[in-house]
Amino acid sequence: MAQIGIIGGTGVYDPEILTSVSEELVDTNYGIIKVKVGEYKGVSVAFLPRHGAEHAVPPHKVNYRGNIMALKKLGVERVVATGAVGSLNLEMIPGEVVLVDQFIDFTKNRIQTFYDTPENGVVHIDMTEPYCNDLRKVVTTAAETVSVPIRGKGTYVCTEGPRFETPAEIKMYSSLGGDLVGMTSVPEVVLAREAELCYCTVAMVTNFAAGISPNPLTHAEVLDAMERNHANLKKLIMKTIEILPGTRGCRCRYSLAELGSLGLGK
Ligand code: HPA
Repeated sequence: MAQIGIIGGTGVYDPEILTSVSEELVDTNYGIIKVKVGEYKGVSVAFLPRHGAEHAVPPHKVNYRGNIMALKKLGVERVVATGAVGSLNLEMIPGEVVLVDQFIDFTKNRIQTFYDTPENGVVHIDMTEPYCNDLRKVVTTAAETVSVPIRGKGTYVCTEGPRFETPAEIKMYSSLGGDLVGMTSVPEVVLAREAELCYCTVAMVTNFAAGISPNPLTHAEVLDAMERNHANLKKLIMKTIEILPGTRGCRCRYSLAELGSLGLGK
């Protein structure tokens, strides 16, 4: 069993903070998912590199349902996910950490629900507060404690990828209210809510988006920026795990209450 799940995005592949690490193969309806489970300061932590240990899985092919279901099956209740993002907002600069509070979805070919079979029924999950506010507060406190500058709000535009955007797309996303652009927060955040997990995305700004950056974008640039800011992200996650309250007081755990017994189970 694990208490907290960490989904490592680009540049975060190794649960190096954990001790007594074992590799679990979790059998889900969506395939077998490899998760590393270990301990940090007495807390049991499940670690999942979203793109695989070698960054071999592109954003549009990530097994989002398998990953969230595997964490759920391991007993995880709270998930902190990291993600590299480009910035459309001149105030959010490369190297900054943003705890996003909203998303705009421009993905195209991703299944966003566990409820797509007749046996499970139909679910229209509420997305008024897509990222768990209580968990975001814990991460914010952790950031303040370890002196990692963090912005507490931002709108994440999720694209299908794997290509980067055109400057025209970035202009449109900006006019729609987007601050950051990335390729993975959706459907992860949606599935986490359907699984009644608390979830937040810790977005690391790695670059200004296409058309704002003076140069063409490269994946190497994103990886370099993640590498430069890896220590901050690690400090932030360690402190978050350390100060996370033992029990949840938010509504995430009742997301499917109106369904009664149809929920995915605890
Ligand atoms: N666009 C989309 N995803 C990203 C970017 C970007 O500019 N930077 C890091 N992930």
